[in-house]
Amino acid sequence: MRIDIVTGFPGLLESPLGESMIARARTSGAVDIVVHDLRDYTRDRHRTIDDTPYGGGAGMILKPEPVFECVERLQAERTYDEIILTTPAGKVFNQELANGLSLKDNLLILCGHYKGVDERIRQALVTLEISIGDYVLTGGELAAAVITDAVVRLLPGVVGDGESLLTDSFQDGLLDCPYYTRPPEYRGMKVPEVLLSGDHRKIEAWRMAEAEKRTRERRPDLLAR
Ligand code: ADE
Repeated sequence: MRIDIVTGFPGLLESPLGESMIARARTSGAVDIVVHDLRDYTRDRHRTIDDTPYGGGAGMILKPEPVFECVERLQAERTYDEIILTTPAGKVFNQELANGLSLKDNLLILCGHYKGVDERIRQALVTLEISIGDYVLTGGELAAAVITDAVVRLLPGVVGDGESLLTDSFQDGLLDCPYYTRPPEYRGMKVPEVLLSGDHRKIEAWRMAEAEKRTRERRPDLLAR
């Protein structure tokens, strides 16, 4: 898979996409992630990517020219399955959306910024708008990092143990069960007996019951679905 990310603030994406499992996925070739600096597509001395909104009001708007020129340059090299805009006005991101995107070959993520983006960018370029939740960030870069992380970890070979993806919270509509590791007793707190029993059928049943209990207590809305 290839993911191109277009932003006026490439530094914001460096460490989220340059450490740990995502860094390993990039070096192993499971994913090719390329971050593009919008300012490289400006023509003025100040490398301006934003301007004041017509009609007045607070906040700055991402200008169309650098975005169109950057996206068109990229489109000359490959066809994108989706051109995603990160915006609080988008479809709320979830595991199902991440699963769907992980099956694509080429994604382009355009990071929204400031007050908004010129509407013509949406009209002519964007095929999918995604929000990572009902709150407002200073810009779309962290949202782009969240989406990329959730998608890349689903690619073959990125998470060592394929089994662990299937048991993730949300993959079966439930939150994940509690987990323990050594030691069997710590500060008087014991690991549940069944987990030490070696009886895999019983362990599986316990995990399912705990996942359901946790989901009922914390996220009854997931069970209702
Ligand atoms: N940009 C600002 N807030 C955002 C959000 N919640 N999701 C995606 N992009 C954003």
